[in-house]
This record gives sequence, structure tokens and C-alpha cells, in this order.
Amino acid sequence: MSDDRTLPEKFVSGVVAHINEDHRREMLDLAHGLAGQRWAREAELRHADRDGIELVLRADDREEPLRVPFDAPLDKPNQFRPALIALIGRARANLGLPEPTEEDDDGGRNLGLSAALYRYLLATSVREPELLRRLREETAQMEEGGMQIGPEQGQFLALLLKLLGARRVLEIGTFTGYSALWMALALPEDGKLIACDVSEAYTSIGQRYWQAAGVAARIDLRLAPAAGTLAALLAEGQAGSFDLAFIDADKEGYAGYYEQCLQLVRPGGLIAIDNVLWGGAVADDAAQDADTQALRALNARLHADERIDLSLLPLGDGLTLARKR
Ligand SMILES: C[S@@+](CC[C@H](N)C(=O)[O-])C[C@H]1O[C@@H](n2cnc3c(N)ncnc32)[C@H](O)[C@@H]1O
Repeated sequence: MSDDRTLPEKFVSGVVAHINEDHRREMLDLAHGLAGQRWAREAELRHADRDGIELVLRADDREEPLRVPFDAPLDKPNQFRPALIALIGRARANLGLPEPTEEDDDGGRNLGLSAALYRYLLATSVREPELLRRLREETAQMEEGGMQIGPEQGQFLALLLKLLGARRVLEIGTFTGYSALWMALALPEDGKLIACDVSEAYTSIGQRYWQAAGVAARIDLRLAPAAGTLAALLAEGQAGSFDLAFIDADKEGYAGYYEQCLQLVRPGGLIAIDNVLWGGAVADDAAQDADTQALRALNARLHADERIDLSLLPLGDGLTLARKR
């Protein structure tokens, strides 16, 4: 029998009830992030527990509740995002709200900027090389595409490297290589970027572009959990030898990466940490998932850390700059 239900219909009707705890947690994190996004601005996360989430959409004096159970037919957790977007889209239609456009979906980045102002910012300041644009667009087609930094943030990292006269850079979390390519292009010919990731599938996309851009020799990709790679660099005596470290990987690992990077960068060197505002969730008491808690704790810890000079920029999803004293 053919199954002509749409993905959201399959999603809610739920035929596969076998989702483990990790999947639940991951989906809960996604739900927190999504409910705060601009395209879902009328959506509010009302309740979340281990079995699912409840959103409510509001228009004038009407509201449309939306129950999203986790016992859904998901082959992989990353199907949750498009399914949830589709569900919210239907609830919006029931309320007579306009369809969200792709421009409304900013991947949780660009906090507080309207879509029009963000477009203006990009148009009047970003000089993104052609290969970077192509890599960004290829990555944006992927369901996980929201993980890559925006072009204004890539250009900002490149500027920081040039200001520092950076020759040696660490990246924790490389994904499809977009931030790595921005930084590698800003390094001198003999510069080196050690790129840490656990995914061969993601990073192989980046490697194609690094080759095409002629900077592959500057990028040393280490496919292993980053904590081990950083520990190995320290054991090899590379403490104090890096100009900048960019941290953009698993959020619960951030505190450990920060401590390791603080040893690995030179005095006057910089640690840049992405996603520190986490789509606004850090300031939302209802968000108590592990990632949000880890980011909150890290932000508080850095605020009190006398080993660094500190600035938290509302750039992208929140970017902390910590200069080692
Ligand atoms: C947010 S993405 C990085 C995005 C990238 N900086 C960019 O702008 O395109 C996070 C990456 O961290 C990687 N990751 C997750 N856990 C990791 C770990 N323990 N060690 C190293 N990388 C990890 C994931 O595979 C993913 O590619």
C-alpha cells in the first residue's frame, strides 16, 4: 500500500516509537532553538518533557496549540527540524498568518536584526570570495546547514587573524569547512590551521573547497574528538604557540576546550567562542537543556576569569572574544 502522507503527517501520527534518550535530548535542544527563531516568532515553547513538546502559536486573540510527540517516525533526529517547521507552517496557516519564507529562517543567527537589516549588512560589508559562497550555498542545502557560521562572521574571523598577524590557528568544530576556509585564506602562505572534527563526511566537503582555493596545505585536519587532539598538542609541547583558537563544536565540551585552548594560545592571543547566546536560550529560564546550561555556565565563568580580557559580541549566534593576558 502506498503511503502518500506528508512528512509532518507521518511525524505526528508516529509509527516508530523507538527513540533513545540522546535523540530526545537532541530534539528538545532543537525545539528550544527553533521556537526562538524569527520565522516562528509567534511560536512559544509552552512545555517540554521527555515525551514531547508543546508549542503555542498566537495571532491577535487566537491561539493554536501544537503538540509534537517524540515517539515519531524518525529515522534520524535531524528530520525533526523540517518536520517541526512544516507543522508550525500548518498551524500558521490555520491562524491565517503568512507562510514563513526562507529569509525568515535565519538558522537562529543574527540575533535581533530584522531580515531586511541583515540583508543590508551583508550587501554593504561582506566581500565573500566566490568559492566561499559556493561552499556556503552547498552546505545550506544540507539539513544540518544551520551549523555553519554566517558570511559576516567568517569575514570577521579573517579580520581578527590579520589584526593578530596570525600564523597558527586552532579550530574546534570544522563541519563542512566554511569557517576554516575563511581563516586559511587570511593566513600567510606558510600559516597553519589545525582543524578538529569527528566527521569525515562533513569535512570531506570542505576538503574539496580547500583544494580548489589552493589552501589545503595550510589546513591540518585532525579527525578525532577535539579534547584528545588538544591534549596531544599540549603533550607535544605546543602550549603558547597558537595565535587564535575558534571554538564551534559540541556545547558541553566548550568549557574543557576553553581551558585547553587557554594553554595553547600565546599571551595576547585570542579565543573566539561561537553560539554563546544560543538563539536567546541562555536568557530564557525555561530553557534547561544540557547545551543551554553548559553555555550559561561558561559565560558566567569567563566573566569572572581574570586570565583574559573579555568581550561578548551579538554577532551571529553570539561570539565571545577572550584575549589571553
Ligand atoms: C557547529 S559545527 C561547526 C561549524 C563550522 N565552524 C562552520 O562554521 O562551518 C560543529 C562541528 O563540531 C563537530 N564536533 C562535534 N563533537 C565534536 C568533538 N567532540 N570533537 C570535534 N568535533 C566535534 C561536529 O561534527 C560538527 O561538524
